Amino acid sequence: MPLIPEGVIDEVQARTDIADLIGRYVPLKRAGRHFKACCPFHKERTPSFMVNTEKQVFHCFGCGVGGNIFSFLMQHDRLTFPEAVRQLADHAGVAIPDEAAASSRAAHASLGALLEKVCQHFERRLLDPAGGRAARAYLERRGVSERTRQAFRLGLAPSGWQGLLQAAKATGVSAEELEAAGLIINGRSGSYDRFRHRLMFPIVDLRSRVVGFGGRSLDAQEPKYLNGPETPLYTKGRHLFGLAQAKDAIIRAKTAVVVEGYFDCAVLADGGVGHVVSPLGTALTAEQARLLKRYAEQAILAFDADAAGEQATLRGIDLLVESGLQVRVARLPQGVDPDEYLLAYGRERFEQLLDRSAGIFDVLIETALRRHPGGDTESRVQAAQVVLPTIAKVPSAMRRSEYVRLLAERLRLDAGAVAEELAKADARGSAALRAGQGGLSRAAQAAARPAARGPERLLTALVLDGPARWTRGTEPLSLGDIIDPALRRILAVVCELEAAGSPASPAQVASRLSEEGQAALVAELVELARSTPSKDEAFEDCVQRIKAATRSRDLAAMREQIQAAQQAGHEAEVQRLLAAYQHQLTGAPRLEPVAASAGGSQP
Ligand code: UTP
Ligand code: MN
Repeated sequence: MPLIPEGVIDEVQARTDIADLIGRYVPLKRAGRHFKACCPFHKERTPSFMVNTEKQVFHCFGCGVGGNIFSFLMQHDRLTFPEAVRQLADHAGVAIPDEAAASSRAAHASLGALLEKVCQHFERRLLDPAGGRAARAYLERRGVSERTRQAFRLGLAPSGWQGLLQAAKATGVSAEELEAAGLIINGRSGSYDRFRHRLMFPIVDLRSRVVGFGGRSLDAQEPKYLNGPETPLYTKGRHLFGLAQAKDAIIRAKTAVVVEGYFDCAVLADGGVGHVVSPLGTALTAEQARLLKRYAEQAILAFDADAAGEQATLRGIDLLVESGLQVRVARLPQGVDPDEYLLAYGRERFEQLLDRSAGIFDVLIETALRRHPGGDTESRVQAAQVVLPTIAKVPSAMRRSEYVRLLAERLRLDAGAVAEELAKADARGSAALRAGQGGLSRAAQAAARPAARGPERLLTALVLDGPARWTRGTEPLSLGDIIDPALRRILAVVCELEAAGSPASPAQVASRLSEEGQAALVAELVELARSTPSKDEAFEDCVQRIKAATRSRDLAAMREQIQAAQQAGHEAEVQRLLAAYQHQLTGAPRLEPVAASAGGSQP
């Protein structure tokens, strides 16, 4: 997706009032110049959710959420930043000037309209008193009620080779359009319908727009499930079947159940287990995992208990763990699909199955021991190697080290050695992570303790409150003095905006920060500034304290260098550094960056 120009973001910002926007979701009460409400992000009876119309930000004192118009939509409707901008741009009548995107949007719209028509056609065929009778009976037999049939907009592609083609011609839809949508096939002896005598499952996007179809054979025709080809609207591995229907239930349960089949989704939803999705006949992809992460904190895999299911489960665990979800695995009896289980034992038993699902550690170690059952040292080492790559993907350091302890215990291996192996398995991943963190030296990282951030936080808050303070201070600071990367980023944006001559309002600043949580931080800082008395004095105090911190950091770095030079026997270098150190101690202005001249002496 192309980047949205900043001018457009500003325009949307300028034309959208935050109270107006939030007022569409929760009733606002006026409180002085601002508004308050009961927070839509946590349960409460007395309002602690504030909408600041002057700064165009919101903040909840109860649960700490906050941000600007974009972050409100992102959090409330789980949108990405570009999605939120587009939605607000639509509402505010701001055009997003991108010719290529505009023409492809038009193409998308006409393909979408066609798929919608076709979906209705299939739905009508299923409802046809005579033609749809057998298919309706099949659905009933499989435990899909009328309500669920409607919720999933199930349909019927009757037998016969040209049903859709002919129906389309009658309504002025061309064969070319149907072919582009993957609905008809041009063979040597003419065109024919792709889906024949199949129960049709429309695949919909998050806004419930039809993007494609899957069809289950109603006779012996192979394959049992036929999926349409990729089109401009449908890319394999990008959508999750059932997500649009399950979204709210997933948010409520904070959990998504991932099953293999279309019928599993429909039957479970029918039986009252609504938080279920399926990856649509392909192996779960990273994109699907990220999609789930928007709505869920936890995923429970409920795949078939056969060899293919085991493989899919292991792959699924890795992907879901990597996306930051907590993962569990439901244990179905051998050869019983989730839909069959629900129909045989009912909702309560199915929910018990979910409650009793296993943690990934147990699943991994069982698989590892099944593959390397020997019990001798070599087998136990090999079993550990099965488990380690997945553990390395667990984002939480605490969980990771707990898994290492468990793994060592279960396999009777030395915990230190297991941890060492884990570090190897992890090396690639964390190298990438470090590269993205702007490379703070170890001394700088040590200084980034919360205590050191106090003055940085207040200072950033006060700069957001009055950007002129940044340059007006008696002893100007530089961005390099700010250790906390999030605060430094905010200040950098303020400086950029000011340098470009556009006023850096908190809402403007927040909309230029793309990282998660940044907008909330801005809102928090606005509140911090608001509750600070004598702001200018407080600002001066922060500057002094940050200067002092920079200085003691510089001194510590110099001491490290002096030590290194001494150990290396570079007497001349030691003398030079000592002189510089003295100079610094007596409060002279900061020296040239010392780090550059003493290569390799950084710890
Ligand atoms: P299964 O073969 O396990 O089918 O495929 P199922 O869900 O138990 O089917 P029913 O219960 O007999 O109707 C599981 C999923 O794998 C995909 C489909 O998404 C299916 O729901 N699949 C299966 C295909 O895409 N193509 C196939 O030919 C078979
Ligand atoms: Mn099945």
